[in-house]
Amino acid sequence: EVTSNFVFGLPKAELHVHLEGTLEPELKLSLAQKNQINIGFETIQDIRKTYNYNSLSSFLDVYYSGMSVLQTEGDFYRLAMEYFKKAKENNVRHVEAFFDPQAHLTRGINFDTFINGYYRACQDAKALNVDAHLIMCFLRDMPAQSANEVLLMAQHHREKILGVGLDSDEHHNPPLKFAYPFSNAIAQGYHTTMHADVDQVDSIEHIKQALEIINVERIDHGTNIVENDDLVDLVKKTQLGLTACPLSNKFISDDYKGKEILELLDQDIKISINSDDPAYFGGYISDNYLALAKNYELTVEDVIEFAKNSFKTSWISPVQKNIYL
Ligand code: HPA
Ligand code: ZN
Repeated sequence: EVTSNFVFGLPKAELHVHLEGTLEPELKLSLAQKNQINIGFETIQDIRKTYNYNSLSSFLDVYYSGMSVLQTEGDFYRLAMEYFKKAKENNVRHVEAFFDPQAHLTRGINFDTFINGYYRACQDAKALNVDAHLIMCFLRDMPAQSANEVLLMAQHHREKILGVGLDSDEHHNPPLKFAYPFSNAIAQGYHTTMHADVDQVDSIEHIKQALEIINVERIDHGTNIVENDDLVDLVKKTQLGLTACPLSNKFISDDYKGKEILELLDQDIKISINSDDPAYFGGYISDNYLALAKNYELTVEDVIEFAKNSFKTSWISPVQKNIYL
């Protein structure tokens, strides 16, 4: 039987968490007061009442509007540090966390402000025994040219960023749109991943583009490959990582997608369990494991396999990986 103690205690890597999605209502209120920003709510309960999305776009509206409270380098540091403390409580040893530069640049926040806050938190996370790294995401509902500009800005901070990702609203925003910034990022030595959120329009076509044209190293979500045997074979052959997020799936498509996730695990696909936007989807990484355990009769072996996959498909050095496998 899979117990809470076992899941919390198992060493894990987290490969799919958006730092802006770790903004808890308490911190949102506290920063709103400090920065004198009117967010339209005065209590935690009122904030939580708006967390009732049923699609990617309805979630994203709440997610982006919440970020307005993040203003100073110290705010970004505090956001990331509070998440790293949660990571420690979940025995997450290694994190590759997303952040959304354009969501801050478009509000008039400088690149230096958020990257320096986030990076300083990554360094201080070492004291918690959490090995923390950053993945810069392009917003796919913005023009490719804007992604190019972000990549240019990031050149001054190259060593602070491990990889590049793609998130936000997927509809009519295929991977191919970002072929240029991604090939440029690969040439600069960034690792790469892209979202293929559950049950999106053209999901299969988007995953094909990400794998065959962009040549990404991982897919975030991507569980819709179960619909296509050729894609399952390809993902299996290439040992490509999929980062599943059950609690997120439950909001976006009213289904944890546990059946699909376990089917892929059984087919030896390197799929891991992650938290996506834990402050918005009701739980951190262990809660995601436990939601599957409770609803789909996970075995202890399944749980161990997910955790191993998280290290195997992480971007840590092979030597460091051996510590966990
Ligand atoms: N999907 C797409 N974009 C996002 C997400 C997500 O789950 N979270 C934050 N940005
Ligand atoms: Zn995500």
